[in-house]
Amino acid sequence: MKILGVETSCDETSAAVVQGGRKILASVVHSQLKAHAPFRGVVPEIAGRAHVLKMNEVIERVFVQAPGKVDAIAVTVGPGLVGSLLIGKMTAEALGWIWSVPVIGVHHLEAHVFSAMLNHPKLNPPFMGLVVSGGHTDLILVEDFGRYTVLGRTRDDAAGESFDKVANLLGIGYPGGPMVDQLARLGNPKAVPFPRPHLHGSWDFSFSGLKTAVLYYLNESKNRASVQDVCASFQSSVVEVLVEKTLRAAKKFGLKSIAVGGGVSANSALRAQFLVRAKQEKRKVYFPDPVLSTDNAAMIASLGYYKLARSQSTKSSSPYLKIDPSLPIQNWD
Ligand code: KG4
Ligand code: ZN
Repeated sequence: MKILGVETSCDETSAAVVQGGRKILASVVHSQLKAHAPFRGVVPEIAGRAHVLKMNEVIERVFVQAPGKVDAIAVTVGPGLVGSLLIGKMTAEALGWIWSVPVIGVHHLEAHVFSAMLNHPKLNPPFMGLVVSGGHTDLILVEDFGRYTVLGRTRDDAAGESFDKVANLLGIGYPGGPMVDQLARLGNPKAVPFPRPHLHGSWDFSFSGLKTAVLYYLNESKNRASVQDVCASFQSSVVEVLVEKTLRAAKKFGLKSIAVGGGVSANSALRAQFLVRAKQEKRKVYFPDPVLSTDNAAMIASLGYYKLARSQSTKSSSPYLKIDPSLPIQNWD
């Protein structure tokens, strides 16, 4: 079964065709990075307009790569920016109507948590899921497709947001995550002893105090460490908290596998430390390819396949999908 995925929840306009939930036949991602860079953040109005301008071209390009009919369409219905989500939903519904194929709504974070399946054929639930993106840090017990318990989430800044804000403090560009990652490779992670916000006794996360600690350090320190050292020290704190908390949760709930997704899962130090620590704990950790860590429609098509196969999602009483900018993660029927 071939599924067309459509993703427009934030600042990437993306379409992909995926077969059997796992095999990417075509994938196109148009990033709006340049349009938002002068504002050092995503501007919702600009994002919506840019999706309108690029959507048709992205769909056309994906069918040049993978010509032929699809059996269904999967589209992100939340969470995300309302204007951006609408463009994807209307595109998917129009194509579904023209082609007479079902249109399935997919939760963006659910798709991130399963995204490692696209390059790891052996990965299947149950597993401990960690989604680390620009807007979310969610620790999710994944019992099966459509069966989740959200154990913890961020109480303030998301992991990606903290990378972006620290990069902003350091004046090293936007988006901050990839820049911090790059500079940290040249720095000493022990140079500055930033706090490790473990929040013992809770599965939640909190990164805003760490960001403030970086701000105070930059403002007050007399013999300031290099930018590379600050990046490496900040990054090592975020990485330690994410890795240790996820491993602790996997142990507590008896799960051998861990799947990490979302933009921050592209981080080289996070990947390296997870691999080392998971091996020590006799667990296996899976990451998506770095291009599938950030927003993409292949992960939407992939989860759409499992939703179509397992749920009643196409038997909605309304012919239209509902988008929800703050859609919570919910179990399927
Ligand atoms: O998942 P994503 O593409 O979009 C959201 O759904 O939010 O994640 C974007 C976030 C940004 O905050 C970006 O700075 C961060 O992921 N990011 C990284 C890296 N690549 C992207 N953070 C740390 N290291 C990276 N290599
Ligand atoms: Zn995302």
